Amino acid sequence: LNNGLGRTPQMGWNSWNFFACNINETVIKETADALISTGLADLGYVFLNIDDCWSSATRDAKGQLVPDPEAFPSGIKALADYVHGKSLKLGIYSDAGIFTCQVRPGSLYHEKDDAELFASWGVDYLKYDNCYNLGIQPKERYPPMRDAINATGRTIFYSLCEWGVDDPALWAGKVGNSWRTTDDINDSWASMTTLADLNDKWAAYAGPGGWNDPDMLEVGNGGMTHQEYRAHFSIWALMKAPLLIGCDVRNITAETYEILTNKEVIAVNQDPLGVQGRKVYTAGTDGCLQVWAGPLSRNRLVVALWNRCSKAATITARWDVLGLESGTIVSVRDLWQHKDVTGEAVASFGARVDSHDSAMYTFTPQTASHSEI
Ligand code: GLA
Repeated sequence: LNNGLGRTPQMGWNSWNFFACNINETVIKETADALISTGLADLGYVFLNIDDCWSSATRDAKGQLVPDPEAFPSGIKALADYVHGKSLKLGIYSDAGIFTCQVRPGSLYHEKDDAELFASWGVDYLKYDNCYNLGIQPKERYPPMRDAINATGRTIFYSLCEWGVDDPALWAGKVGNSWRTTDDINDSWASMTTLADLNDKWAAYAGPGGWNDPDMLEVGNGGMTHQEYRAHFSIWALMKAPLLIGCDVRNITAETYEILTNKEVIAVNQDPLGVQGRKVYTAGTDGCLQVWAGPLSRNRLVVALWNRCSKAATITARWDVLGLESGTIVSVRDLWQHKDVTGEAVASFGARVDSHDSAMYTFTPQTASHSEI
């Protein structure tokens, strides 16, 4: 969507994956404080997004949405002020149907009122869900909210959550800043790998202003191993997926912190070229040894060696698979070890990767003039 936002994938935090409906203004404020004190905000995680269950079960007498008085007694405007005071941005959630997924009031046919209300509160981001949609296609229901937001004059990041229904990549580029390509993630290896593959199909449609969204991060929620979470974060970054943290950042472990704060991997996600990397090669049983790669700015490439097999193995990326001319001299940097790999690769690059782990590199091809010196 050409609203000036989402020139790189959105980064931040969202309440759903960890808290579900157990949210309140204290949790949101403490999360704001934690994003600052941990340094996550400085790394780019600036959207603080409230998901479902912030609103009361019914609209008020004037037909307006009302924050749940028990969970959000000070209201959303006060929360937005608090969050803005910390140079963060506030996101809210509604639904392109008559109810949200947790049966709070939806915004279908209330687009103008609700967009004006969100803008008056100082909201910066809207996640717009797909429950109770009366069987009307997403293509029909999502543009009215875009137009309503636009009419408010406030610039609001518009995140479509239509679960991949109606092949959003084919039409949502003019509607939203991101669109879901899949059903909901859960905190498991099976879910994470399935969503990566589904999202890969739409790579050609992502770019500055509009991104494929394979759903939010589960890193730190406990259902996967450290290696699996490292692979999850690596591949989401490479695919230019939104990096929306889904764990409790108030109580973050050192292991989780190490993953979420990897500056070099974040830089891949936020690279200004904005091209979604893809699965480019598979080998092994059921293709479980995988190479994912894509172009970066300054003529570089990102390459992930992802071992989805049950044993450690060597995975090799050949130049022909990466679209490099044979003989090209490449300098390789390891983004998890944070060091340059010694020696220059000329035809392929391989490394041993643990089961369910992903190694990740940037490749810098040396120009002819450089190698002649
Ligand atoms: C849907 C969305 C989720 C979450 C829940 C909230 O399932 O896809 O991301 O927002 O609704 O109810």
